Amino acid sequence: MRAVVYRGPRHVELVARAAPRLQGPRDALVRVTRSAICGTDLHPYRGELAGFRPDTVLGHEFVGVVAETGSEVDLPLGTRVVASDVVACGRCASCARGWHYQCDQVGLFGYSDVVGRPLDGGQAELVRVPFADTVLSVCPDELSDEQMLFVGDVLSTGYAAAAATRITPGDVVGVVGAGPVGLLSALCLRLCGAALVVLADPEARRRTAARSLGLEATTPTELPAVLQAAAGGSGARAVVEAVGSAAALDCAIDAAGQHATVVVVGAPSTEPPPLAVQRAFANELTLRFVVGDPIRDGERVTALVRAGLLDPTVVVSHRLPLTDAVEAYQLFDRREAVKVIMVHED
Ligand SMILES: NC(=O)c1ccc[n+]([C@@H]2O[C@H](COP(=O)([O-])OP(=O)(O)OC[C@H]3O[C@@H](n4cnc5c(N)ncnc54)[C@H](O)[C@@H]3O)[C@@H](O)[C@H]2O)c1
Ligand SMILES: [Zn+2]
Ligand SMILES: [Zn+2]
Repeated sequence: MRAVVYRGPRHVELVARAAPRLQGPRDALVRVTRSAICGTDLHPYRGELAGFRPDTVLGHEFVGVVAETGSEVDLPLGTRVVASDVVACGRCASCARGWHYQCDQVGLFGYSDVVGRPLDGGQAELVRVPFADTVLSVCPDELSDEQMLFVGDVLSTGYAAAAATRITPGDVVGVVGAGPVGLLSALCLRLCGAALVVLADPEARRRTAARSLGLEATTPTELPAVLQAAAGGSGARAVVEAVGSAAALDCAIDAAGQHATVVVVGAPSTEPPPLAVQRAFANELTLRFVVGDPIRDGERVTALVRAGLLDPTVVVSHRLPLTDAVEAYQLFDRREAVKVIMVHED
């Protein structure tokens, strides 16, 4: 089969690889129909994760059809499914609390050994899914593969970020970073009743993308003043950091109002995060870190898409065949694409 593998910084390749095989009774093989590149894939791509293993099959956002199942997986062959990017056993004490990222056997598809044990990813024709009874969700007939694709990561992540702000209707909120995670967080915040969501991004193209979705956008430098002017009084109720850099966390803390909640959903890269402790103390901020959990939130998020309240495909700017994976990574890395979907052969 063909698969996209990591070779080194800014070097991915589409290569021939042996097809995966079932390894246990709770495994399934999924024939992938669509996959996407996530900002999280850019961290190894940009060389920010030393030790990321060359030859890792990349990709943790994918949707497809069940091709083979172990004896304990009750999914008919051919069923359309979306995988949670986070792999969890569904049976340990952490899973029982709904803390799937803290599972004893956690994994993240296509991410080397950064999170738990290594698992080949879904930017491939076939992928092995462990704990398939927990990790896979059936796609409703009326929703397309593309509408379900982001339930497996960025949409569930945006949902979790919005929920973690605990805003109430009428609140003014900031989002630092207008990539797919920031944009979907903003759309979820709007569903939570935010009176105004302002995104901050240094990239003009990303600000344009935000505006085309009816959202406000500004530069990171201007965000604190824009939020203060809009919210007045005690300032923005919450700010979501959806970048994963020191500068972005600084910006989020700077833009947060009194007693505000700062939700960090950007995955920290290698630089040490500065913490503006004095400002955080003076404003009595609440700082939260959130990992999206499609196993926990997938059903609720799917219901929002089904009800027509959220359309995750609005962030898609490019669709390319899997054979153009190298170009797809380049477009996303250069921010020429907001979100790339790779179309796998039927
Ligand atoms: N917590 C989770 O569960 C989870 C899930 C998915 C992605 N992520 C992380 O979320 C982050 C964003 O992912 P994405 O897919 O949207 O990627 P992305 O790289 O497309 O988006 C990042 C955006 O931040 C902007 N940016 C860069 N520096 C900035 C700054 N100082 N201030 C404001 N904006 C700045 C960039 O221009 C870009 O538009 C990544 O760190 C990714 O690893 C986390
Ligand atoms: Zn991701
Ligand atoms: Zn578990």
